[in-house]
Amino acid sequence: MKPLPLTPETSAIFDRIRTHDWVLNVYGQSHSRAMRLVKARVERRIKRSGLPVHEFNAYRRYVHELVKAFRTETGELLVKAIELTLRKWTNFGLVSALLQELLGDCFLRFEQQGYAMPEAKPLAHKGRPARKPDRVSHLSYEEALRKNRISLGRANTVAEQSARQKAGAARASAIADELRPVLAARGIPADKFVAYFAFAQKLGRLSRTYADKSLQMAAADLIDFYEAKSLDSDTLRAIASLKTYLLARRAANALDAVDDWICLLALNRLTGHSPGFFSVYTLPPNQAVSVRSQQKINARRNQTPPPRDVVKLILKKTRILLRDCDAATRQVLAGVAPRAVLLTQPAARTPQIPAQSVSLVVTSPPFLNIVDYATDNWLRCWFLGLDARSVKLTVPKKLDAWQAAMTDVFHELHRILKPGGHVAFEVGEVHAGKTKLEEAVLPCGVAAGLEPVLVLINDQQFTKTAKCWGVDNMAKGTNTNRIVLFQRH
Ligand SMILES: C[S@@+](CC[C@H](N)C(=O)[O-])C[C@H]1O[C@@H](n2cnc3c(N)ncnc32)[C@H](O)[C@@H]1O
Repeated sequence: MKPLPLTPETSAIFDRIRTHDWVLNVYGQSHSRAMRLVKARVERRIKRSGLPVHEFNAYRRYVHELVKAFRTETGELLVKAIELTLRKWTNFGLVSALLQELLGDCFLRFEQQGYAMPEAKPLAHKGRPARKPDRVSHLSYEEALRKNRISLGRANTVAEQSARQKAGAARASAIADELRPVLAARGIPADKFVAYFAFAQKLGRLSRTYADKSLQMAAADLIDFYEAKSLDSDTLRAIASLKTYLLARRAANALDAVDDWICLLALNRLTGHSPGFFSVYTLPPNQAVSVRSQQKINARRNQTPPPRDVVKLILKKTRILLRDCDAATRQVLAGVAPRAVLLTQPAARTPQIPAQSVSLVVTSPPFLNIVDYATDNWLRCWFLGLDARSVKLTVPKKLDAWQAAMTDVFHELHRILKPGGHVAFEVGEVHAGKTKLEEAVLPCGVAAGLEPVLVLINDQQFTKTAKCWGVDNMAKGTNTNRIVLFQRH
């Protein structure tokens, strides 16, 4: 085997581990405690590495393995375990220098916790005799279970647990086998394999593990939308699973970029009228009809919710969306990402945005009370674990109330716009074309000190939302997009 190229710092760490008579205090500690010690440091280093966000997780997994080595080995065996871990992740295409810097972070932090004399050092597990640092016993899986070294999980017997473990390994290698040709066909280099594998594996895991509780709560409402025949393989279970997983991660403040991406796509795929969505044919794609209306649609179309592969649909949409996202675009996005802010609150008050800091606002406000956003988004709210009634919305019935609300918003937009900055305000005609909101909005912007520049009308030969809302084409609904452009001087 070729020797691993080590930085002088790593060599010094190895020398220190080899020559020190005492063992690090972290030896024998629980994984979560040991991770807590290094988490902030390594996170900072990973995030400042300049690497694409989707690669971060691979470095985190490396750190987990490293910490495990420090908890379970000492002396020469610890050096060997670290070398092996470094070699493995370098072979996977991770940057060796960064891996070694992360090793330095962990080692320094663990050293700060001090050392203990080997004989005096008990393992974290109560009653277990201290392990001699120069002897390591290699247990079989069954032995480790019997000796309580690893937990039994949800299986009831050793044989069951062992079978689960094997099935997990088989699933992982099946994912890898499927993934390799796909990446090769798309010209994705082999050193990116780990990142893609982690993503695929995560999706696979989600649809099995987290469902039961959430499913019981949701089944009654959702059964008309999603296939739900068997508890093992149904679509509803996979969706409920995903929901519960994301909520658990959010509660633990542990959502990463991949989780956010999966959540975004799942929300987008919840309901629609093609096999690309999780649901049976329903209307419209971005809002959910009521359970009662869905029952009627199902009866009229003589349909029952078909099985959908939630994971495949998310992956497919991911491929479509990222098709033209090349290396240069990724670099630009990674550069601006730290400055992005997501606010979910009424648009008339956004104190988080500094005055005169924005060049362009593009917005599409509610069109009076034409759409009931709270009720129509009930399914998205269910998925996100939100109480729809807790979201503050502007739903004025009358035009003058709408104008007052919009004027408030324009004052706020005036505050945040840079001099010379623009607002593109998208509206439409309502009340069967009798109320033209672009005309109504002009005095609102002017009252806030903005100057109207132009009104752009995109007229089309069919009603924009007619099919979705079940209205007759060209008779009701909106036929145009009207964008009013304002400028701040
Ligand atoms: C015409 S829709 C625009 C939808 C948008 N284009 C999208 O794809 O999500 C109007 C949106 O304004 C939101 N809304 C309602 N009242 C609001 C308020 N006071 N502040 C900000 N947004 C509000 C509604 O929830 C709805 O999503």
